[in-house]
Amino acid sequence: MCGIVGVLGNHEAAPLLVEALKRLEYRGYDSAGIATVNGGKLDRRRAVGKLVNLSDLLVHQPLAGKSGIGHTRWATHGAATVTNAHPHKAGPVAVVHNGIIENFRALRAELAEAGYAQESQTDTETVALLAQRFMDEGLSPIHAARDTIARLEGAFALCFLFAGEDDLMIAARKGSPLAIGHGTGEMFVGSDAIALAPMTDRITYLEEGDWAVLTRKGAEIFDSLDRRANRAETRIQIEATRVEKAGYKHFMAKEIAEQPVVIADALKHYTTAEGTLRLPEGVDFTGVDRITMVACGTASYACHVAKYWFEQIAGLPAEIDVASEFRYREPPLSPASWALFVSQSGETADTLAALRYANGKVARVVSVVNVPTSSIARESDLALPILAGVEIGVASTKAFTCQLTVLALLALKAAHDRGRIDDVALAAHLDALRNLPGLMNHALSLSTPIAAIADDLAKAQDILFLGRGAMYPLALEGALKLKEISYIHAEGYASGELKHGPIALIDAAVPVIVMAPRDGLFDKTVSNMQEVMARHGKVLLISDAHGVAEAGAGAWKTLTLPDMPPVFAPILYAIPAQLLAYHTAIAKGTDVDQPRNLAKSVTVE
Ligand code: M6R
Repeated sequence: MCGIVGVLGNHEAAPLLVEALKRLEYRGYDSAGIATVNGGKLDRRRAVGKLVNLSDLLVHQPLAGKSGIGHTRWATHGAATVTNAHPHKAGPVAVVHNGIIENFRALRAELAEAGYAQESQTDTETVALLAQRFMDEGLSPIHAARDTIARLEGAFALCFLFAGEDDLMIAARKGSPLAIGHGTGEMFVGSDAIALAPMTDRITYLEEGDWAVLTRKGAEIFDSLDRRANRAETRIQIEATRVEKAGYKHFMAKEIAEQPVVIADALKHYTTAEGTLRLPEGVDFTGVDRITMVACGTASYACHVAKYWFEQIAGLPAEIDVASEFRYREPPLSPASWALFVSQSGETADTLAALRYANGKVARVVSVVNVPTSSIARESDLALPILAGVEIGVASTKAFTCQLTVLALLALKAAHDRGRIDDVALAAHLDALRNLPGLMNHALSLSTPIAAIADDLAKAQDILFLGRGAMYPLALEGALKLKEISYIHAEGYASGELKHGPIALIDAAVPVIVMAPRDGLFDKTVSNMQEVMARHGKVLLISDAHGVAEAGAGAWKTLTLPDMPPVFAPILYAIPAQLLAYHTAIAKGTDVDQPRNLAKSVTVE
């Protein structure tokens, strides 16, 4: 989603703004722009497409000034055009914005009546015009911004810059995250600390409803009732903000390869060498009657896998829902239940809204997040970091397997607390998980044969993924990954559902990827696979050595993964699914790390 930066600096702002925007590229965008104040004059440059287009424009039409704001826009209201790109400017005001102003139509009509006409189709220009109107009515920039913010409904992060004010920026947060960076005689604003890392490691996160007046001397922060607010300054670990490909061609490739290490780290963090769990105090499932898991996209598939674990290992009823449905469904929640929210970014608007719905209705709101400073983490009773490290590729990979790992540990804790497994069984399960990093390294070594298969997959128009039991959600995840970055239509199905409809799609041109470790359901999955092959479907069977030996004959291709206890196999089988998507995208020449239309962190509904 959109990225925001702001600089009140001691050096030229344009290069700093562009560099910071580069660090926000991972969020996804389709146009970019910056504005500066130079000698009191407010000016801007905007370009459609990648940041390189903005950089080129700045070569020919430089922007001077040590104060500036910048933006990468992920189009919501209006197409990706220069006119719709931010910063939006109205008279002496320039604004960048992330989020959606829900009452912008009413405001726009009101402003039009007063003679303030809008050029663009965006909700953001309305904000700039409103501030301009307040200034025309005699308000100072600070009061104009304050009164503008008070009129806005919806979710937003905003940063204002004003003509004639070289030492002033106003920042505001409601629903979308915003960080303030402290320098020496300099101040910064960014959508996240990653954007600001080259400039400062001293960060203050604005809280919901906060707005801040920034000058080079510092920031005065006000809460939603305009009272002075003290917000802590924290030092972020620059290591945690590193966004380098480390020799890999793409962030996604690096993140896939990192999985054995980050999963080993997560296991080390949450377990002891003696074979016990070391989860935070408060993770106690005694008396818990149900767990409701809510998330979006890949994170929701992690919940879907975990449902099998909570029910099968712990005997705990588990429900899952995508956040965008959950929040409006008004589901009744048991006061003895837990609501669990899973999110890489911790800022997904729908997941956050679902969390707020559950708050107060359940015994405990728990989150499993990658960004421990995120809104979802902060608003939970208990937040468990997945310790995946920064994930830049829009297609989630290492966050997915780390989410699965932490969810598996939670399910084991639930099973132990509920007396479903004893210490010995728990230690055996933890042993199986501890073997995962080694097995994942083996799976990663299949990259070359997977690339060869992907060359063929790249020619397909439709691809199906099949799985049974906990491999079913993995089929959904495999299909999502493939369509996200290769733009090939792909669907995941529960193997048993095939004959209830999707089998009509099967012919020699439709590859069907069957993910089936040799578990208790294997024979049933193989029967479904035979049904595909009987209709000339091209089957890629991904299984272990026994599975491939037993059922591989007649398949178009096979991939052999190492043996592992089937219960946690989805974590291992995620790797070939990710590699298939990655190599198919490479074969098709698509933009792997920033696929079209997608944003890393979806902070609007
Ligand atoms: O940050 P979150 O985990 O809350 O994001 C949820 C989804 O938007 C995300 O998983 C999305 O589906 C990814 N692009 C999947 O690769």
